[in-house]
Amino acid sequence: MSLAFFKGRFLPLEEATVSIATHALNYGTGCFEGIRGYYNAERHTLYVLKLREHYERFMRSCRIMRIDPGYTVDELCAATIRILKENRTPGDVYIRPLAFKADPVIKVTLDGVGDAVGIFTVPLGDYLPINGIHVMISAWRRVEDNAIPSRAKITGSYVNTALAVADAHYAGFDDAIFLSEDGHVAEGSAANLFLVRDGVLVTTPGTENILEGITRNGILQFAADLEIPSQVRAIDRTELYVADELFLVGTGVQVAPITRIDHRTVGTGDVGPVTSRLQSLYFDVAHGLLHRYDDWLTAVDYEKSEKGADILE
Ligand SMILES: Cc1ncc(COP(=O)(O)O)c(C=O)c1O
Repeated sequence: MSLAFFKGRFLPLEEATVSIATHALNYGTGCFEGIRGYYNAERHTLYVLKLREHYERFMRSCRIMRIDPGYTVDELCAATIRILKENRTPGDVYIRPLAFKADPVIKVTLDGVGDAVGIFTVPLGDYLPINGIHVMISAWRRVEDNAIPSRAKITGSYVNTALAVADAHYAGFDDAIFLSEDGHVAEGSAANLFLVRDGVLVTTPGTENILEGITRNGILQFAADLEIPSQVRAIDRTELYVADELFLVGTGVQVAPITRIDHRTVGTGDVGPVTSRLQSLYFDVAHGLLHRYDDWLTAVDYEKSEKGADILE
């Protein structure tokens, strides 16, 4: 049995169900997060990466979508910790908070429709290979912020991702890169993108229709700490073809090196030195091996019995 949190109660995941009349199921009017916990078997401890930052973004997404989650960031963090402690998953975990327009209302609007919040967890390994992937530039364009807000993690906007990923898979690629309507690079299908040219790390700004990624911020912090020069600026499509290194970052993909793009080899065709350094630092930090980054992690110790969610009881 996997414990979930739904409509104010802790209950088995199978019982956390909705009606087919639910507004969000019909119209995509929800927002969500994706959070990872990395298991350290020796310490019987799950390290949840940037828990608070994810719930802060969750709140911003809810604000854009006029959803009232009804809980504070602290309460949502506490509920998550309680679920993780109960589930005691002996491996890496993905945490999915979801807030949505829950009433059975046939009216396409955001006002006057009641909201609900759920949180559940699933075991999750690598979402994409982490030793080199082949991507295509998608024929689909990334949703523009003035059509569906790209800096909010909105359930309905993932139709955009699904279309691009499915086409990439049918064409034999691992994943897709989105351009915006103006032809600039936006991001990966569900990840932010970095390139390295002449030793400089480059990623696209928050104004290029990207989701403002939490991993992206972390990678920029690593670059500063390692004294790797970095720039946040617009990227042209053809820069991807001449980059020395390319990689995707995100909670799902972690740090996924791109070694081929549109049937062209990236750099030497191997995982590049900057990517490799950042990737290994990411995994060390995520597993709680570097005290310098302890503030990135919420340690959930399976051996300690105290509940984390008394705040909700
Ligand atoms: C569209 C999109 N861009 C970027 C990201 C990366 O964001 P984060 O690093 O906060 O997970 C995600 C989520 O994983 C995403 O869905």
